Amino acid sequence: MSHNKSKSQQLFNKAKQHIPYGVNSNFRYWGEEETPIMARGAGAYVWDADDNRFIDYRLGFGPIILGHAHPVVTQRVAEAIQNGVLFAATTPIEIELAERFTRMTGMDKVRLSNTGTEANMHALRIARAYTGREKFIKFEGNYHGNFDYVMFSGPTAKAELLGPRSRPHRLRATEGMPVAIRNYMISLPYNDIEMLERAMVEHGEELAAVVLEPIMGNVACILPDLAWLQRVRELCDEFGVVLIFDEVKTGFRLANGGAQEYFGIKADLAAYAKAMGNGFPVSAVAGRDEIMSVVEPGRVAHGGTYCGNVVAATAAAATLEMIETQPVIETIFANGRRLMAGIGEILGRRGVAHVVTGVPSMFSVLLGKDEAPTDYRSYSEFDAELFGLLGAELIHRGILVDDDPREPWFMSYSHDAAVIDETLTLVEDAATAVFGRGGHQRKLRLAA
Ligand SMILES: Cc1ncc(COP(=O)(O)O)c(C=O)c1O
Repeated sequence: MSHNKSKSQQLFNKAKQHIPYGVNSNFRYWGEEETPIMARGAGAYVWDADDNRFIDYRLGFGPIILGHAHPVVTQRVAEAIQNGVLFAATTPIEIELAERFTRMTGMDKVRLSNTGTEANMHALRIARAYTGREKFIKFEGNYHGNFDYVMFSGPTAKAELLGPRSRPHRLRATEGMPVAIRNYMISLPYNDIEMLERAMVEHGEELAAVVLEPIMGNVACILPDLAWLQRVRELCDEFGVVLIFDEVKTGFRLANGGAQEYFGIKADLAAYAKAMGNGFPVSAVAGRDEIMSVVEPGRVAHGGTYCGNVVAATAAAATLEMIETQPVIETIFANGRRLMAGIGEILGRRGVAHVVTGVPSMFSVLLGKDEAPTDYRSYSEFDAELFGLLGAELIHRGILVDDDPREPWFMSYSHDAAVIDETLTLVEDAATAVFGRGGHQRKLRLAA
């Protein structure tokens, strides 16, 4: 299928006249002729400005857990906003939400904000205030938002510049931030117990926090080694360091209680956003009572004009009610499991070296090797360009994925069995276009 994109292109050209690169977030820029302009979404589908339909696996970079324009959420928000959206005061819906949120996550206390960035920023500040320390550990390839303290050696870092594994460099992700800020952060490879132990012994007494993504949601859904995750927990306890889970992508997507429930390991503080609001901008920092109690007028600042606004709080209340009362996660897992297996089977049948990494609600397809990556450095050994070719063929056929394999395929409650069937048929076609039916030639090229 070849899409007519004339209207999208016209709009993109116009966008560029007023918006740098025509996008309001750098990651949305795909190139001069590829950058999509989306007009609407419903359930598992989105339509671009030329009315081309796609099965959406990007889901707004993860938030759309129920499906686009889910009627339960949309209706509750539409009703709520008739009565005003912002009062500079607590509203009943925030209280309803906080009660459900703490029950589902097992966290004692929660404060709302609007983006994942804010939630992580507040988590780090709270950990610093609680411990009276300033430094923190962060892992290579982990992304915690768009604020200066954490923007080192993230998912866009050039792997070849990361330096020796035993003494990783801290690579700045953006110009415009003070170089000296890197001195607050210690960068370590993910899943490396030895390096972690060494860093803890060396810096433990000056560390406020260890912050981590419990699945590498910005690098191909690389899974944590459970022994490593357990050791992180133990060492944080031993050295009095606050363990922060960045659950922005995993929260309400892996289980009702997020990655903490899924892996059976409790964090002291966690940041949530994305799936919490089914696309509406809402986020939260939550944690143990003792730690959250440093948030106090005149002591630790937390706030913002829009924190807990009626739109966000209502959307989150409706979304979490759906997740708690309907078989949302189980259904997504069942359908996602079939999709992961189906994609693996299609690639395997063609002799293409691959791994499908992650969990059924968020996973990635990696090509060029068949051993799962364990950290950012081993991810970089996969053939991202080859996935780009497959991604382009998928998009031509109406399967919207990121053509960069670092960004996961996300599943929603609206991706039902019929949507998975349709997807697998189109994946089969796309794989044939890239690898042929048997894939022998491609296999030889890969091996060469
Ligand atoms: C794990 C993680 N943390 C934090 C963020 C930042 O969230 P936001 O873009 O809402 O500020 C993201 C965004 O993709 C993320 O994936």
